[in-house]
Amino acid sequence: CRAVVLISGSGTNLQAFLDAAADSACAYSLAAVISNKGDAYGLVRARDAGVATEVLSHKNFGDRESFDQAMAELVDTYQPDLVILAGFMRILTPGFVRHYSGRMLNIHPSLLPKYQGLHTHQRALDAGDSEHGATVHFVTEELDGGPPILQAAVAIEPGDTAETLAQRVLVQEHKIYPLAATWFAQGRLKMVGDRAELDGELL
Ligand code: GRF
Repeated sequence: CRAVVLISGSGTNLQAFLDAAADSACAYSLAAVISNKGDAYGLVRARDAGVATEVLSHKNFGDRESFDQAMAELVDTYQPDLVILAGFMRILTPGFVRHYSGRMLNIHPSLLPKYQGLHTHQRALDAGDSEHGATVHFVTEELDGGPPILQAAVAIEPGDTAETLAQRVLVQEHKIYPLAATWFAQGRLKMVGDRAELDGELL
């Protein structure tokens, strides 16, 4: 299974994939890491691991459609079986999403369907929630709304800030995201209609 990872920033989730893929027993290989920002630290992580990198700046395109078109062409040069969004901070066009339907994953830092969109940690704190977490899901045209695959929850503790909470959620993200990718690479995970299916069971 060949995977391409799209990033925009620090790439701690990317690092979890790089670490997993360094093991020859890993079910997937990372064909390339592509960023829409040239200064994304994740690019350094990828280069250090010997993985091909590309930068495609959205600023060089007049609209979302033309950027996504160019991005899909670039991604497809690596012939991926799987596209992994790992902190890729761009809203994707329906055409891009459809092109990778059933083979594109995202991780969102909340217990979806709660807190789609941004500032999830602060929103969980403001709501007085007792727990928070992250969700791996297939990407569909609905932003942060595709079929959930795997969630990890963490308890919210007294004195937590958005930063301390984000740190604890990230530790969980780094476990569940490579696990979901492994399931996909092993052929155990599929998108069937608007649901995810693992080992033939709807999730
Ligand atoms: C994480 O919070 C992830 O849930 C969200 O974007 C962030 C990426 O962080 N989709 P990193 O670049 O992997 O450190």
